[in-house]
Amino acid sequence: MNIDSLNWGDLSPEIFLAQYWQKKPLLIKQAFTNFEDSITADELAGLAMEGEIESRIVSVNSKAEWQVDHGPFEDFSQYGETDWTLLVQAVNNWSRPTHDLLTPFTFIPSWRIDDVMVSFSTPNGGVGAHLDQYDVFIIQGSGKRRWQVGAPDSSLTTLIPHPDLKQVSKFEPIIDEITQAGDLLYIPPNHPHNGVSIENSVNFSIGFQAPSSQELWSSFADKLIDNNLGEQRFSDPERALSQTSFNITQHDKQQLKAFMLQQLDQEGFYEQFIGQYLTQGHHALEILVPVNDIDEEKLKDILSEPDILFMPVSGLKAAIINDNQTTLYINGESFALDNNTLELAQHLAQQKPLTTKKLKSFTHCLKNTQLLTNVLNKGYWYIE
Ligand code: SIN
Ligand code: CO
Repeated sequence: MNIDSLNWGDLSPEIFLAQYWQKKPLLIKQAFTNFEDSITADELAGLAMEGEIESRIVSVNSKAEWQVDHGPFEDFSQYGETDWTLLVQAVNNWSRPTHDLLTPFTFIPSWRIDDVMVSFSTPNGGVGAHLDQYDVFIIQGSGKRRWQVGAPDSSLTTLIPHPDLKQVSKFEPIIDEITQAGDLLYIPPNHPHNGVSIENSVNFSIGFQAPSSQELWSSFADKLIDNNLGEQRFSDPERALSQTSFNITQHDKQQLKAFMLQQLDQEGFYEQFIGQYLTQGHHALEILVPVNDIDEEKLKDILSEPDILFMPVSGLKAAIINDNQTTLYINGESFALDNNTLELAQHLAQQKPLTTKKLKSFTHCLKNTQLLTNVLNKGYWYIE
């Protein structure tokens, strides 16, 4: 199996973006040939036993009532052979083969991706018809599932069959297919969909993120406060005589708006905000801080040995913003770059394993050595 290559058939990433992305759903049969699950059902159940990993089981009981149980789970025996689904969030933070499922989707920038959620469903298992606010690619792993996807429809009604479960009424499907291992389904936001397992079945959901304006403004305000910025007060030394003292004039309104927006134009500040905001993960990570700090000498020793791999923590979020000041962002932290460190930073942002041989070519420059020890000591990268 080669997960790197997605068989687009008559389509291409360009056509997909122009015709389908955020517009209409798509099923690509056999997008991945000989697809194999990146994690077994047993391993998935193991992750659902961990307190820091978000998981839930959605089931339907003998009285046809929906039930939602939240992890961590101790055992699964009560759920029987049918009518339930286990869903585990951010499995890519704990399973590198699952993280590697993101590789074919790099035609969309990584900051738009949230996580890979994995579900294991027994026959007739599913979460019911519902809408999501985010785009999702669903790779069908082992087993078969019937997927129905409809178009946005304002006449659908919201159903809450359980306080933790939001569903929608029956919809008219525009895709109604049985998916098999290697099939790829794309569902844009707010398109009703329903996946019902035909047999034990595993699904990998590549979920996207799109911040709301409210979230952005609120986080931006937090960042201003954290940095003691924006404390200056509105001033109006050019004030003209007021004709109607009870009016907030067009001019005053514009001045106030410009006064607020000044914060967005502060040199470098917005870039730092957005870089940190978009690389902050929403799920726990397996950060691997070394027991003893790695200094430049120790790094030199490690690099003198062949066949050692430097690995990023699985599921880490990283990005570079090229600006007057080019900066690497990892997990919400910023690392200022210059011409010497940019190439190494690009490798770190791409998050592919790096060999000692490759890294040695960078460390003739002390700044690269410092960048590398920095990300190692913070536990974002580790030595295998
Ligand atoms: C799943 O059950 O694997 C996916 C749930 C969803 O449609 O969001
Ligand atoms: Co969904």
